Amino acid sequence: MKEKIIPIGIVGYFLLMVALIGVLGWYWQNFQKTPVQPIEFPHNVHVGKLKLDCQFCHKFPSKSKFATVPSVKLCVDCHKTAATDRPEVKKLLKYWEDQVPIEWLKVYSFRKNANVNFSHKPHIRAGVDCSTCHGRVDQMITARKTRNINMGFCVSCHRQERAPTDCWTCHK
Ligand code: HEC
Ligand code: HEC
Ligand code: HEC
Ligand code: HEC
Ligand code: HEC
Repeated sequence: MKEKIIPIGIVGYFLLMVALIGVLGWYWQNFQKTPVQPIEFPHNVHVGKLKLDCQFCHKFPSKSKFATVPSVKLCVDCHKTAATDRPEVKKLLKYWEDQVPIEWLKVYSFRKNANVNFSHKPHIRAGVDCSTCHGRVDQMITARKTRNINMGFCVSCHRQERAPTDCWTCHK
């Protein structure tokens, strides 16, 4: 009896470790790829406390399908005088002095080979809230993924909202 219990115990332990590594790997892939940004920009302060609108910084130019991340100039308009004693703001002012753009790392993107054709415009026009896709950015410091934006997510909402679901709507 004893001879059997030990190998089963070892196999069980081994399987448990494999499962644990699998779960961690999945979690890491989906949610933890949050890049460390060059400046720890606090969304929560600017949106939650200062009540700036998302689109004050992320403008959606009528011709482009991309939201944009603001230029250093927009930050410095306030930070010439606001919170200039804080270390992260000093970093910001150094970029401005040196006239170099801040290399913000992308948080959201599609796999290239999926050839996705996405545009913010129809969604904003249809009144879909930013948080539906990006989570509560107003409570975050730098933006991080709270969900994976995959095909299932897009298609199930399109079905529900009676938006187009043929392949060419989203793929080119
Ligand atoms: C229907 C889902 C959806 C909604 C609603 C949405 N986004 Fe996005 N957003 C995305 C996806 C998907 C990407 C990645 C696009 C890509 O890489 O082509 C993205 C990318 C971005 C980016 C990175 C720059 C860019 O355009 O690639 C910013 C900034 C952004 N969104 C801000 C916002 C803001 C602000 C709102 C609300 C006004 C919003 N988004 C609403 C899905 C959404
Ligand atoms: C409308 C004015 C305004 C704009 C635009 C603005 N900020 Fe701020 N920001 C503030 C104010 C005011 C504070 C201080 C808030 C507080 O602590 O109460 C602040 C705080 C900060 C802090 C936190 C400092 C700390 O450690 O507590 C950082 C970092 C920062 N801003 C970076 C940026 C960057 C980067 C941009 C551009 C993408 C930007 N800000 C745009 C007004 C602004
Ligand atoms: C509402 C938008 C939408 C519709 C409609 C849609 N897709 Fe997609 N599709 C996506 C998104 C988003 C992805 C995932 C991109 C990623 O993972 O980065 C994707 C991924 C894929 C992939 C995987 C590509 C890869 O490299 O792994 C294939 C294949 C695909 N779609 C085929 C189709 C086909 C066939 C149809 C029609 C039956 C279709 N899609 C309809 C949005 C859509
Ligand atoms: C004061 C300017 C400012 C405001 C207001 C602001 N953001 Fe941002 N946002 C930034 C900056 C700077 C970055 C780049 C750093 C980062 O990724 O967090 C960014 C990044 C993002 C990203 C990640 C883009 C990518 O790389 O894929 C999303 C999504 C986003 N913001 C959504 C929002 C939403 C939603 C709101 C409103 C609730 C908002 N932001 C309000 C300045 C702002
Ligand atoms: C929460 C719901 C929701 C999600 C999630 C969503 N969409 Fe949409 N989408 C809509 C609505 C609503 C419309 C507007 C339909 C209209 O104007 O009649 C729309 C419109 C579109 C259009 C324009 C269609 C046209 O020809 O008018 C495209 C392209 C599109 N979505 C792609 C995507 C992709 C790609 C994703 C995933 C990354 C996605 N959508 C995720 C709700 C959503």
